[in-house]
Amino acid sequence: MSNYHIKNLEEYFKVYRKSIREPEEFWEEIAEEHFVWRKRWDNVLNWDFTKPEIKWFENAKLNITENCIDRHLRTKGDKTAILFEPNDPNEPAQHITYKRLADQVNKMANVLKDHGIQKGDRVCIYLPMIPELAYAVLACARIGAIHSVVFAGFSSTALATRIQDSDCKMVITSDGSYRGSKSIDLKGIVDEALKSCESVKSVLVAKRINSDIQMMDGRDKWLKPLMEAASGECEPEIMDAEDPLFILYTSGSTGMPKGMVHTTAGYMVYTAYTFKNVFQYREGDVYWCTADIGWITGHSYIVYGPLANGATTILFEGVPSYPDHGRFWEVIQKHKVTQFYTAPTAIRALAKEDISYVEKYDLSSLKVIGSVGEPINEEAWHWYDDNVGKKKCPIVDTWWQTETGGMLISPIPYVTPTIPTFATLPLPGVQPVLMDENGQEIKGNLAEGRLCIKFPWPSIARTIWGNHDRYKETYFSAYKNHYFTGDGARRDATGYYRITGRVDDVIIVSGHNLGTAPIEDAINEHNAVAESAIVGFPHDIKGNALYGFITLKESGETRNHDNLRKEINQLITEQIGPIAKLDKIQFTVGLPKTRSGKIMRRILRKIACNEMDSMGDISTLLNPEVVEQIKNERL
Ligand code: PRX
Repeated sequence: MSNYHIKNLEEYFKVYRKSIREPEEFWEEIAEEHFVWRKRWDNVLNWDFTKPEIKWFENAKLNITENCIDRHLRTKGDKTAILFEPNDPNEPAQHITYKRLADQVNKMANVLKDHGIQKGDRVCIYLPMIPELAYAVLACARIGAIHSVVFAGFSSTALATRIQDSDCKMVITSDGSYRGSKSIDLKGIVDEALKSCESVKSVLVAKRINSDIQMMDGRDKWLKPLMEAASGECEPEIMDAEDPLFILYTSGSTGMPKGMVHTTAGYMVYTAYTFKNVFQYREGDVYWCTADIGWITGHSYIVYGPLANGATTILFEGVPSYPDHGRFWEVIQKHKVTQFYTAPTAIRALAKEDISYVEKYDLSSLKVIGSVGEPINEEAWHWYDDNVGKKKCPIVDTWWQTETGGMLISPIPYVTPTIPTFATLPLPGVQPVLMDENGQEIKGNLAEGRLCIKFPWPSIARTIWGNHDRYKETYFSAYKNHYFTGDGARRDATGYYRITGRVDDVIIVSGHNLGTAPIEDAINEHNAVAESAIVGFPHDIKGNALYGFITLKESGETRNHDNLRKEINQLITEQIGPIAKLDKIQFTVGLPKTRSGKIMRRILRKIACNEMDSMGDISTLLNPEVVEQIKNERL
């Protein structure tokens, strides 16, 4: 029992040790006590990283929606499961109880069945952040269909590629979506994508913006009347522990996006366990993760993890800047949010705005604030700590990946003392190691190297859809018998981890290994700087030199830029050393970003290296227009 909810540091170390020494016993106890199963497992874990093959809770039978919905009905039927906060603050929020969630999910599950969807079929979900998105995900899980959620900001080409790769039979979408003051014609994007997707037999359309759209006879149907006519009862499909639950695409450094496959039981156990501990979730809390369900963060920590704990999880349709930059803080006050989980890019964007946007609202309900998606720079960490957490809420800097399914390295709030920019300690069951250039594990606490994990945790992705060889090649070939994360990390004397960034972002200058994150941290400390990204470019003497792309807080900055360049290099020299000084500094109107807010260094690298003819597809960027400007002003 005590394994499940960690309450102090001593207990963390005890639990962690047990999870390493007796991993099977550790996870078995958690699985046994906190979930409902239709049949028990024969074997807790069977694994071989050389194949690679990983099986957790072998031969167990279950349905994840019974764990996320049905079992809460008796005691929490009238509790809010999903709290929907619309894009427009004047539209009332919706409190969707566990009872209503059950009803809606079952209805949608029956509609899917009526359209020929069966266990194992792939269903593409291309929806904005509205309740139907959560219903659709859970309805698939109810009947054993494999959902493939595609973020509804992706272009028709990106959508088509993903539908084709996994041969989806159905698409669930909406007439359109709201995004701040704009609306987007989602159905038009789907229509365009489906011109090249023969596998899709039906399209279900939710009504959100009441726009006039084309419905193709025989293929497209409005969801609402179908759901109204459907039964609210639907027997859950009994799934094997290792049956795929979903596919989620993530971009690789090259080639096609990778359809990461997550399976049922291990994913459920791990996301539920980490949700409980990393957010110190208690009954009555109101939890808000601002990610989109189109990303892994939304899958694991808006839908499955919180619902498996019977929590109230906010589903937010809007953006942080609409109707003004106070929206996040207004929502926290309005719903008395207790745990708030967002991304460094959002924090940095909001930190640029007037502080009065934050100060206007009462944030005293907050107990834990979190960060995910990229290294959080020191300045943003302090801004978040000072202005949002008011120095009273621990910041959980959670490190993980689409491939890991759940958080792997993170503080446990009120348990693990935090240090800015450190993701701190591995969660129970996670065995990180740092590898040197020769593929050897670096022993001893103080170390810097490539981050690998040497033992499976329950929610590790099991394969890449349709391409197991690529899975093996990408994650299990660089270091024998280890999962390679693609990230670099530093471990301090106490064993705390600081993620230094993708190792493909490591730049070797005059033989020195430089991580981009610490240099960007230094730059960002300059009070004129809003955001920065550095990349390497070839240099005759040093091998590589550094090129900095820097956005200023005020685009109309009148200061002499040469002085500013000197000041920035001075800061870097002070914080890292002269070796990390930038050879070129280009001030830009913005940095190219993915839809999830990550800076696309790949594109900046091409510009810096003057390889602008081979930039690749930039259509899926959030702001493709800045690329042209940066190219034109290249130094
Ligand atoms: O480089 C790490 C960075 O994001 C990568 C994973 O991206 P994605 O699959 O899109 O998943 C993001 C949401 C889990 C990692 O390889 N990353 C994620 N969280 C952190 C981070 N880097 C530093 N600190 C973090 N907390």
